[in-house]
Amino acid sequence: MQRITCTQWGPPEGLVIEEAPDPIPGEGQVLVQVAAAGVNFVDALFVGGTYQIKVPPPFTPGSEMAGTVTAVGPGVDTVAVGDRVLSSLGLGAYASHAVVPALAVTRVPDGLDLPTAAALAQSYCTAWFALKRRTTVRPDETVLVLGAGGGVGLAAIDVARSMGARVIAAASSADKLADAVAMGADATIAYETDDLKVRARELSEGGVDVVIDPVGGPHTEPALRALGVFGRLVVIGFAAGGIAALPANQVLLNNRTVVGVDWGAWAMKHPASQAVVLDEVLDAVRLGSLHPVAPAERPLAEAGAVLRDLLDRRLKGKTVLIP
Ligand SMILES: NC(=O)c1ccc[n+]([C@@H]2O[C@H](COP(=O)([O-])OP(=O)(O)OC[C@H]3O[C@@H](n4cnc5c(N)ncnc54)[C@H](OP(=O)(O)O)[C@@H]3O)[C@@H](O)[C@H]2O)c1
Repeated sequence: MQRITCTQWGPPEGLVIEEAPDPIPGEGQVLVQVAAAGVNFVDALFVGGTYQIKVPPPFTPGSEMAGTVTAVGPGVDTVAVGDRVLSSLGLGAYASHAVVPALAVTRVPDGLDLPTAAALAQSYCTAWFALKRRTTVRPDETVLVLGAGGGVGLAAIDVARSMGARVIAAASSADKLADAVAMGADATIAYETDDLKVRARELSEGGVDVVIDPVGGPHTEPALRALGVFGRLVVIGFAAGGIAALPANQVLLNNRTVVGVDWGAWAMKHPASQAVVLDEVLDAVRLGSLHPVAPAERPLAEAGAVLRDLLDRRLKGKTVLIP
C-alpha cells in the first residue's frame, strides 16, 4: 500500500509518501481500498500538532474517506467484500488502503459517487448537528454563514436552505461567493472589504437570526453584533487562527445566545447518535434535499501541497486526494 506519513509536527510540506505492506483486517475490522480521501481543515491541525487532540508522529493523516471493502476480518457480518463504504475514521485516510472497525463504515447510497461520498460526512454532519441538534432555524429566519465557500460553510448553506431559511453568505473572494450562490445563498458579503455587521443588518432588515461561524478571528464579534432579537451565534471553528473574546453585553442585548458545536468529540463519544445523524444526512442527499458538490480531485502524493493551499485559503469547496 501507499500512505502519507507525518514524521514530525509542522508545516504540511514535511509530509512524505511511503510504501508499506498491505494491512490485514483483524477481528471486527474491514480493509478498504480507498478511492478518495476527503481533505479537511482538521487534517492540517493534526499535522501541525495544533489540534486539541495531539497524536505523536509518525502517523498517517486523513479523517475521512470512501472506497471499496476488499477483505473482512473474523466476526464481521455487517459489511461484505465489494461493498462501497465511507468512513470518518479520524486518522489514516491519506492512503491507498485503510483498516477500519466494521462498525465505523457506512454503505454509500447507490447513485452517490465515491469522491463526493469521501468529502461529505465531516462537513455535512457538522452543519446538520449545528442546525438540527444544537440550534434550529425556521423557514422565516435568516442565517449568516461565514467562510461560506469552505467545506463547513457550503454544507451549512445547503442544510439551512433545506430547512427553508434565507441565507447570507460571507467569504473572502468573488469565486467563493459565486460557489455559495450556486449552493443556494440568497445574498453575499465580501467580508474582507465590506463591513460585515452593517451589511448583514442591511440584508436582513435589522438583524440575522443565526450565525454559522467556522472562521473565528476578526469576524466573530461583528457577526455577533449582526444578530437580531433571540439571535444565535453558532461557534464551529477558528480557521482564521484567532479565538475572539466576546463582549458579554452583546450577548445580553437582544436576548442572544452563543452556541458551541463540538461535533467531532460528540460523534466519538456517541457513535450510535452520530450514526443517526449520518443516516439523516445521507437520506437527505438521496432524496435530493441536500446537494453536496463534486470535490476537486488531486493525487495522494500532493497531500502536503493541498494542505498548504487549504491553509493559504486557496481551496474552495471540497478537495479529495486520489491514491
Ligand atoms: N466544531 C466541530 O465539530 C468542527 C467540525 C468540522 C470542522 N470544524 C472547524 O471548522 C473550520 C472550517 O473547517 P472546513 O473543513 O470547512 O475548512 P475549509 O474548507 O478550509 O474552510 C475554512 C474557511 O475559513 C476561511 N478562512 C479565513 N481565514 C482563514 C485562514 N487564515 N486559513 C484558512 N481558512 C481561513 C476560508 O474562507 P475565506 O477565504 O472566504 O475567508 C475557508 O474557506 C476549521 O477550523 C475546522 O477545524 C469544526
